[in-house]
Amino acid sequence: MTEPAHVSVIILAAGQGTRMKSKLPKVLHPIGAKPLLSHVIHTSAELKARQTVVVYGHGGELVKSTLADEPVVWVEQQEQLGTGHAVDQATPHIDDDHIILVLYGDVPLIKSSTLFELVEKTAGNALAILTVHLDDPHGYGRIVRDGSGAIQRIVEQKDASVEELKITEINTGILAVQGKLLKSWLSQLENNNAQGEYYLTDVIAMAVADGVAVHAAHPAGEDEVLGVNSRSQLAYLERAYQRDQAEQLMAQGVTLIDPARLDVRGQVKVGKDVTLDANVVLEGNVEIADDVYVGPNCVIRDSVIGEGVQIQAMCVIDNAVVGEKCLIGPYSRLRPGAELKGDNHIGNFVEVKNSVIGNGSKVNHLTYIGDTDMGSGVNIGAGTITANYDGANKHRTTIGDKASTGSNSVLVAPVRLGDGATLGAGTILTKEAPDGKLTVARTRQTTIDSWQRPQKKK
Ligand code: UD1
Ligand code: CA
Repeated sequence: MTEPAHVSVIILAAGQGTRMKSKLPKVLHPIGAKPLLSHVIHTSAELKARQTVVVYGHGGELVKSTLADEPVVWVEQQEQLGTGHAVDQATPHIDDDHIILVLYGDVPLIKSSTLFELVEKTAGNALAILTVHLDDPHGYGRIVRDGSGAIQRIVEQKDASVEELKITEINTGILAVQGKLLKSWLSQLENNNAQGEYYLTDVIAMAVADGVAVHAAHPAGEDEVLGVNSRSQLAYLERAYQRDQAEQLMAQGVTLIDPARLDVRGQVKVGKDVTLDANVVLEGNVEIADDVYVGPNCVIRDSVIGEGVQIQAMCVIDNAVVGEKCLIGPYSRLRPGAELKGDNHIGNFVEVKNSVIGNGSKVNHLTYIGDTDMGSGVNIGAGTITANYDGANKHRTTIGDKASTGSNSVLVAPVRLGDGATLGAGTILTKEAPDGKLTVARTRQTTIDSWQRPQKKK
């Protein structure tokens, strides 16, 4: 047996996308915060494509520069003369003996599993096309089969007869065939049709004429082959994508209180018995360990959440590390560089930035902890502020193990609060507070005996 042929992918992305009514090129519009075209490029990577060639159009420089890190070959199609012409721009970059798979930059949800099946159908030098039956096939190319059911050709909507328009099996546009064969057919394309374009779809009839077998494969679901031409279709596919993300999480053992109210905009790694309540948004790279609960309306971005953590409603966690068994929220904000060592309580209206909080320390109410190294077993009183910024530079605050701050303390950095030190309420700390002592820095309380409350004049 011979080795299976290598696959190379051509992604068509030269369309203007005028119906998006946008300054942004269509294929850069996001689904799950990732450009449409990136979805297709990443699917191509899952197929281990030898070569991925993206055909972009006039004004597509922004597409190229935005996705400059992707390992693809960029080819400009200067004039949009049709899908056949577009593919013809890319084929010189692909070896004759590779299977060429044609994908679309604006059809983002196509799955690699479907494409593997399609490519398998090219065995023995056959041509394989991906088709579906639609209740309303209007606008699509129709699959014309003979009496025995063999595919004969594709006819475009605008070229179809009344009889052909009744066909409900449509061309998704996605096809796969050996490079050498495709190149020979593309060189013979003509544009004498209703749209005056070089149709890629005309290669089907050429294959039949050359005695090449034509097979159809079908996607598992219709959403896989839907394209984005409008904001409405973009929103529809965003929902389809999110439904899929939710299904994947549930399959991994996550409880979703409402799968329709979860948004995943990146990669999520989850443990077992995680519960995500309504309206949770996960962005970037998020890792959530076993037995975590995330309450309603929380946003977690590029963060690691440890085992058994409970996050109550309305928290925003960004680039933070939350250690095991922490209780967060409601209404907490963890900003970049927040590192909670474990067993911490972070309460309502507490903001933590670029700080390490030692094991078991509690910051329960109305507090700002920034640029701070906090030990373990600390109790931070309500309204404590680390004043880390002098208007020009940021400074660090150090808080020792088992220290405690009274309500409304201000720690003016750089400053140190010693191990087991206590601050009296209202203290404005500008010098070190020694270990184990009570430090108070506020005006002493006085009572003025002779004072009388002014009376309203009659
Ligand atoms: C095409 C198919 C049709 C199929 C439909 C599925 C042809 C002739 N017809 O029709 O059978 O049912 O897709 O959606 O192929 N593009 C370029 N350069 C061009 C022309 C198009 O890059 O010169 C790109 C577009 O950006 C788009 C894709 O190719 O992503 C399809 O082009 P479009 O004009 O939408 O083709 P349809 O007429 O819809
Ligand atoms: Ca189209």
